[in-house]
Amino acid sequence: MRKIIDLIAEQMRAAFESCGYAADYGRVTLSNRPDLCEYQCNGAMAAAKAYHKKPIEIANEVVAALKGQTPCGETAENAAGSGAAGVCANCAAGISSSDAETAMPAMFESVEAVMPGFINLKLSGEYLAAYLDGMRGEDKLGVEETGGGKTIIVDYGGANVAKPLHVGHLRTAIIGECIKRMGNYLGYHMIGDVHLGDWGLQMGLIIEELRDRKPELPYFDETFTGEYPQEAPFTISELEQIYPAASARSKEDEAFKTRAQEATFKLQNGYAPFTAIWRHIMNVSLADLKKNYANLNVTFDLWKGESDAQPYIPGLIEDLQKRGLAYESEGALVVDIALPDDPKELPPCIIRKSDGAALYATSDLGTIIERERDYAPEEYIYITDKRQELHFIQVFRVAKKAGYVKPETKMTHMMCGTMNGKDGKPFKTRAGGVMRLENLIREIGEAVYDRIMENRTMDEEEARKASQIIGLAALKYGDLSNQVSKDYVFDIDRFTSFEGNTGPYILYTIVRIKSILAKYEESLAAGQPQMDTASAGKAAQTYPSGNMRPAGSAEEKSLMLKLAAYNDVAETAFAEKAPHKLCQFIYELSDAFGSFYNTTMILKEEDEEKKAAYIRLICLVKDVLESCIHLLGFEAPERM
Ligand code: ARG
Repeated sequence: MRKIIDLIAEQMRAAFESCGYAADYGRVTLSNRPDLCEYQCNGAMAAAKAYHKKPIEIANEVVAALKGQTPCGETAENAAGSGAAGVCANCAAGISSSDAETAMPAMFESVEAVMPGFINLKLSGEYLAAYLDGMRGEDKLGVEETGGGKTIIVDYGGANVAKPLHVGHLRTAIIGECIKRMGNYLGYHMIGDVHLGDWGLQMGLIIEELRDRKPELPYFDETFTGEYPQEAPFTISELEQIYPAASARSKEDEAFKTRAQEATFKLQNGYAPFTAIWRHIMNVSLADLKKNYANLNVTFDLWKGESDAQPYIPGLIEDLQKRGLAYESEGALVVDIALPDDPKELPPCIIRKSDGAALYATSDLGTIIERERDYAPEEYIYITDKRQELHFIQVFRVAKKAGYVKPETKMTHMMCGTMNGKDGKPFKTRAGGVMRLENLIREIGEAVYDRIMENRTMDEEEARKASQIIGLAALKYGDLSNQVSKDYVFDIDRFTSFEGNTGPYILYTIVRIKSILAKYEESLAAGQPQMDTASAGKAAQTYPSGNMRPAGSAEEKSLMLKLAAYNDVAETAFAEKAPHKLCQFIYELSDAFGSFYNTTMILKEEDEEKKAAYIRLICLVKDVLESCIHLLGFEAPERM
């Protein structure tokens, strides 16, 4: 469906043009004075300069044209009869008659020119109601699939295998999942890749620690020639214990660290016994990682990792060298990436260290070569902590310089700010350690549980289930409602509050609407059923038959205007990669619903027609809210 603001602008453009001004002056924005009008056009001020007239004169002319009058005061009907079609016989001005071309009711309730030359607009209640009817008749509630099936790779999550998933990986998972969902909704072909860190020193550390703990294993017997066991030589809980132990040890024990580095090198060069251990590590930890991501409601299309890039690296290095892009510098192989306009000089990208080891950047370049071969995406989106800024500048520049990606391919690094504790420092456990994700999710679930139990409206089991769903919403909304690049404070009390700009508040709005709808249906069941299924796509909601009614109060109108902005917001939030705009929208929509609810007797309304219209309206509010939280990556419980 076309955006309502574009439909309004179209009328304004036609009106400017019909008065002899360039159509571009007909730009429309949401009003910044909602007390005066709903939308506004400031084009007359700009046009005044170009046409050497007073802004208010131009505004008056345009307003007259919008009202279907010619500047000479002739009305559309009279003028149409007297001259050439669409042109006034008296003053030769064009007359916009686009209202008649569509089945939509006339657009404006009022159009007003005010000093010094603003044009204030209010939509007609009929027009707005018809627009909302159009929305609920559409699969995606009026959101257009502008993506046209374009492929976009989203690289997010980025967990490191065999290391516990900690809060440092939380933002990229939550934001990436939302970006992927928004893109798919808009008709892009989003491919989410977790891009695991599965090829680093942690592997060598585990191998050497394992050697010391279980030297009898065949992987450490150099004379062994048989088949290696299918069964992993450790469980996930052992593995979770082995890595931190090995990591701590490597900080004190130089010899151990050297052994781990050597083991890593051997693994990376295909040493069979270590490859076998690596497979075990992968299998055991992947199962665990998948479970953890599933708990976060985060899923990936691809479970690739740094190890998958390895086959491309020798060819990549050779190519860069042969073409003179890479050169030796202090024993390392580097590619220059600095550009004359850089505000500060950027160091070259190291492709290979002096000891022959490939690096993080090399692996990302290898991955790009594979992705180009397999998907040839039109855009790449990487989501990580902002500390990786330089890394991605280097990788993107080398990829473009070497022509591994087309010049027009968009490469974006979404840099996440840090999740801080109340002390303003990166979030830690109470004991000061790194917080594991599972524990964080548990803590927030418990906080919600306590809140639910304060009111004691649910039994224990339902409260447990609901608090998991609400807890996840609290966590995700708390994150997504902030600008991606900004740091924010993780405040469990605020995030789990049922009031204010929080996930639970949004869910509470949905739950409240559900409960009104249930009561309405009950009341109908007593009489004859009147529901039809003008369903709204996935979240098929039964709307009472009939159409929306023009708003009967200011609160109802505000609510309807908010709803009508949905397609615009969904498109903008994705285009700007700004999930917080979607959060802001549902917060405002929930507030608008709250005001409507507080000022309207919905179920007690005696006029059945009117009551049904209220129900249709709040059904749409619920559908839009549910569609949005689905994009954000969480769901609503039945009750709370
Ligand atoms: N594993 C990395 C980390 O923990 C993040 C990976 C991000 N993706 C990428 N293609 N480099 O920091």
